[in-house]
Amino acid sequence: MNTKIESHWDGSAPATGHMLQPGLDISHKVVLYLDDISVSFDGFKALNNLSLTIDAGELRCIIGPNGAGKTTMMDVITGKTRPDSGTCFFGQTIDLTRMTEPEIAHAGIGRKFQKPTIFENHTVFENLELAMKMDKRAFTSLFAWLGKEGRDKISDTLRLIRLDHEADRLAGLLSHGQKQWLEIGMLLMQEPRLLLLDEPVAGMTDDETERTGELFKSLAGKHSLVVVEHDMAFIEQLGGKVTVLHEGSVLAEGNLADVQADPRVIEVYLGR
Ligand SMILES: Nc1ncnc2c1ncn2[C@@H]1O[C@H](COP(=O)(O)OP(=O)(O)OP(=O)(O)O)[C@@H](O)[C@H]1O
Ligand SMILES: [Mg+2]
Repeated sequence: MNTKIESHWDGSAPATGHMLQPGLDISHKVVLYLDDISVSFDGFKALNNLSLTIDAGELRCIIGPNGAGKTTMMDVITGKTRPDSGTCFFGQTIDLTRMTEPEIAHAGIGRKFQKPTIFENHTVFENLELAMKMDKRAFTSLFAWLGKEGRDKISDTLRLIRLDHEADRLAGLLSHGQKQWLEIGMLLMQEPRLLLLDEPVAGMTDDETERTGELFKSLAGKHSLVVVEHDMAFIEQLGGKVTVLHEGSVLAEGNLADVQADPRVIEVYLGR
């Protein structure tokens, strides 16, 4: 009787007392569907019938003028803001509008805020260890001994975020860019399927920005990424499809060269 449910189950550990979350169904190759989403703040429409889809494994860039609704879109996806209308699905089956923020994180959506939320008084290694132990899917507690598998996972992540030589350094002593990478590493410890990154290279040096681009490109495929940025050189480096938001809806979509040549995009965003 349970065969159907089990075939949807992604293998992660069910936490007792929690509702069993079905696994992510990307059989249609789409990881995220937003359809006709509207959000108003005191009558002002921050999102206005916004529809877009993100393919599984895609690296998507979202651009648009200040106030276009980019951050609000991420707030809707992560359950921080409830849409007034519209639907928001993670894969084919997971209705994000019915879930709380922790449930959405647990289902596999990780979000990076602009200000890194790392533990400054702990080492880089300990930050990743804490992130792993906060993952409710893992059968570990904060006090559990970290097994070889856990240590290997931390080492792999340290290499990926280029902090393998800083493992024993206090996180508070890292450069701004390194702190951002550490926070991305902490998100990765929870193995998210979809990563939302709001202005991830703001304040980074050119060199850090380029390394961040390389990191994101290496994460695409295994993860799906939605990156909000104003830095055009960075978006060009990422090379993915670009969606232009304006007044809460999609104004244009395509490769960077095409949207940059679109007169409507030039008028509302690039020409200014
Ligand atoms: N909690 C809120 N209450 C009232 N208005 C809000 C709230 N959150 C966002 N807004 C408004 O909604 C609009 C969209 O804001 P949002 O932060 O999504 O824009 P954005 O595209 O992320 O802009 P930026 O590029 O400056 O970050 C703005 O006019 C903003 O002032
Ligand atoms: Mg924003």
